[in-house]
Amino acid sequence: MAKTLPICIFILSVVSRSCYGTMLATEEYGWRPVFVDNEVVIGGPFGENFIWQFETQEDRILAFNILDGNIKEAQDFLSIHDGADIYSPNVLLGNDDIIQFSRKGLSETLYTTTSKATVQFAKTPISHLKLRIQKAANCSYNIKPETQCGRMVDEVSCYCAIFTNENQTDQTMSCLDNGMKLVSFESEEEEELVHRTWSTQIPFWTSLTDTRRDGSWLWESTMTPLSNGNYTNWFPGRPLIQESDQFNCMLYGGSTYLSFWGDVNCSALANAICEAQP
Ligand SMILES: *[C@@H]1O[C@H](CO)[C@@H](O)[C@H](O)[C@H]1NC(C)=O
Ligand SMILES: *[C@@H]1O[C@H](CO)[C@@H](O)[C@H](O)[C@H]1NC(C)=O
Ligand SMILES: *[C@@H]1O[C@H](CO)[C@@H](O)[C@H](O)[C@H]1NC(C)=O
Ligand SMILES: *[C@@H]1O[C@H](CO)[C@@H](O)[C@H](O)[C@H]1NC(C)=O
Repeated sequence: MAKTLPICIFILSVVSRSCYGTMLATEEYGWRPVFVDNEVVIGGPFGENFIWQFETQEDRILAFNILDGNIKEAQDFLSIHDGADIYSPNVLLGNDDIIQFSRKGLSETLYTTTSKATVQFAKTPISHLKLRIQKAANCSYNIKPETQCGRMVDEVSCYCAIFTNENQTDQTMSCLDNGMKLVSFESEEEEELVHRTWSTQIPFWTSLTDTRRDGSWLWESTMTPLSNGNYTNWFPGRPLIQESDQFNCMLYGGSTYLSFWGDVNCSALANAICEAQP
């Protein structure tokens, strides 16, 4: 699901050299914050006190990591502020609840809580430092007390499990109310990573339905039709193929379908998994 089109901006050394030793507010020089549409990589050399401002889509946040390096060590050279200027609070390492449910082995990443960030270089860093800035989905959701969220798949998307039973329509709304969507498993890997986190003992709703036309399954969250050759994981013998059948929603897991997909009545009550992509 997560598509990345890396856009790398290697800063001309002539630009940064002219900034050495000066306390630069980019705006004074008529510069605008760098807009992070997807991903931006900045590479040194960076001058002392050099300041960068970044911003992304209003309802998204920014994720920082060091390519081929360690963000903790990089903090000796730079500070990342959670907002539009250097007086904004420092970006802190993630909230423990989320880390608990996030996949181990993701690269260490610092997240803002707003759509803006300011990076200040306190010292001239070691050469070849490359700072990657990505647009990310906010993952500090507090959908309901019975919710667990984490970064299951990559550093920039977010998944939440809702442990209350509702029908598929109501769960679709619960996700939307929080700027998320009911999960779509568009690859085996995505399904596997979610499965590993929350297992499949309790069944949960996904966004796959054939409500619009029997037999034409559609991931409603992304409006992606399930075509021949796409990844599927139906329970043997499912989905039922009969005229005007009423089992129009895909339920994942549970004691009937185990770790497979089952087609069931959309009015049934189940847990849900929501996702947010950057
Ligand atoms: C991210 O979520 C937190 C907690 O709900 C909220 O305070 C913050 O404003 C959100 N940030 C953005 C950019 O939506
Ligand atoms: C699903 O199949 C269609 C048609 O073959 C293809 O265009 C599309 O890329 C596939 N989608 C995924 C997520 O594999
Ligand atoms: C689906 O569930 C609803 C509500 O429980 C029920 O009225 C309806 O008959 C069910 N449909 C089928 C085909 O089981
Ligand atoms: C889902 O439940 C709500 C009540 O929470 C009800 O109004 C709605 O008709 C139900 N939808 C389906 C498809 O069962």
